[in-house]
Amino acid sequence: MRDLQKKAIEVLNKNWKEGFSIPCANLYPFQWFWDSGFIAIGFAHFDMAKAEQEITTLLDTQWENGFMPHIVFHTESDSYFPGADFHCSDLHSESSKKYKSTGMTQPPVTGFVLQELYRISDNKAETLKFIETVIDKVYHNHMYFYKNRDPKNEGLVYIYHNWESGTDNSPIWDDIWETMDPPEYTFERRDTTHVDASERPSKREYDHYLYIIDIAKEHHYSDEKIAELSPFLVQDPLFNAMLIKSNQSLINLYKLIGSSKEKVNQLEMWQEKSIKSFNHKLFDEEIGAYIHYDLRNERPLRYLSSSSFSPIFANIPSKERAAAMIQVMMETFGNEDQYLCASFDPTSERFNPKKYWRGPVWVNLNWILYNGLKQYGMDDIAERVKQDTIAIVENNGFYEYFDSRKEMHENNNAGYGGNDFSWSAALLIDLLND
Ligand code: SER
Repeated sequence: MRDLQKKAIEVLNKNWKEGFSIPCANLYPFQWFWDSGFIAIGFAHFDMAKAEQEITTLLDTQWENGFMPHIVFHTESDSYFPGADFHCSDLHSESSKKYKSTGMTQPPVTGFVLQELYRISDNKAETLKFIETVIDKVYHNHMYFYKNRDPKNEGLVYIYHNWESGTDNSPIWDDIWETMDPPEYTFERRDTTHVDASERPSKREYDHYLYIIDIAKEHHYSDEKIAELSPFLVQDPLFNAMLIKSNQSLINLYKLIGSSKEKVNQLEMWQEKSIKSFNHKLFDEEIGAYIHYDLRNERPLRYLSSSSFSPIFANIPSKERAAAMIQVMMETFGNEDQYLCASFDPTSERFNPKKYWRGPVWVNLNWILYNGLKQYGMDDIAERVKQDTIAIVENNGFYEYFDSRKEMHENNNAGYGGNDFSWSAALLIDLLND
């Protein structure tokens, strides 16, 4: 275990670039929003200064309206497509004047990451001082979401692009692609020069991804216009669970700091409404878990994925509902021949255990589930998730994602996508130290 931890630290130090971390060399050569958050949790265990710097740099990229972009193009690099020239964040009048970025966001992890830094810290007074310097920016980000991403005032925010979900090519989006007919773009993929194409989204999927961005760009990334016109408009349970978890962390931290009563009141109001709507609208009784909702076409997207169980991380289901839901998870995803937790329903025809978010196991989702299970006192299943996570990394290395089928691990090459991947290393360090 010591060796594994040592290697994980090496991965993080290697991917550190003067003030921020890249997720992995070549494939992802810039700073990514939710990656940065998870990476900071890893650094907090052995280098709190870097953990704080990671978050400080990330929050420095915030737009005037509170928006946080999903990729910040700190440097020039031609190893990634689509880059800064495609996204053109400067089309939005309130975008950062200092950094080039995308005009889309990613799951809002920053609130709970700050609380994780506090939990891990062995100098809590100092860490709280740091948190005081950045916490209002995170609050401003949440304000952005509730103000601009909830057109029906439900307490549930939408994402307008599959890249905002973090679960880029989930089979759930296939239903949305069926409603669209984007042009055939001509472009040079870079990801498939670093990683086998069978492990990445298809060219036709990329046409859809680029087309949604083109529509947003045509309207200068106006939230109002995007809500009105984007063919992709989804209430995602993982994304909303991250926001709700982060709301709670902000409440806890503001109370520790002992300031900002009004902000705490506002956060508590958001929490109450969001959790109620979440349980009402996103829970599917028949499936027995949470699902996505397609706001553009007003229909539920009734599929099981690892995102379906993520609300336990934010204490969203009641104890009874959580227990029943985890039984569904174990029955469908938890067979002895599978590592927990496949990113998509292994019994579905759309399941593909090699292809990015269409089936493989991801360390960040396992970390989320592990922590959620512990909160509900489901220690045995939490332990299984933890041991499975350690095993997939030990078998193969610090890959980006892993085959869920145990038999595939026999030759130690069931790790896919990028290698020396930062959040796999960072969250493994956290699991090993728990
Ligand atoms: N993860 C995406 C990619 O593959 C972008 O967020 O490029």
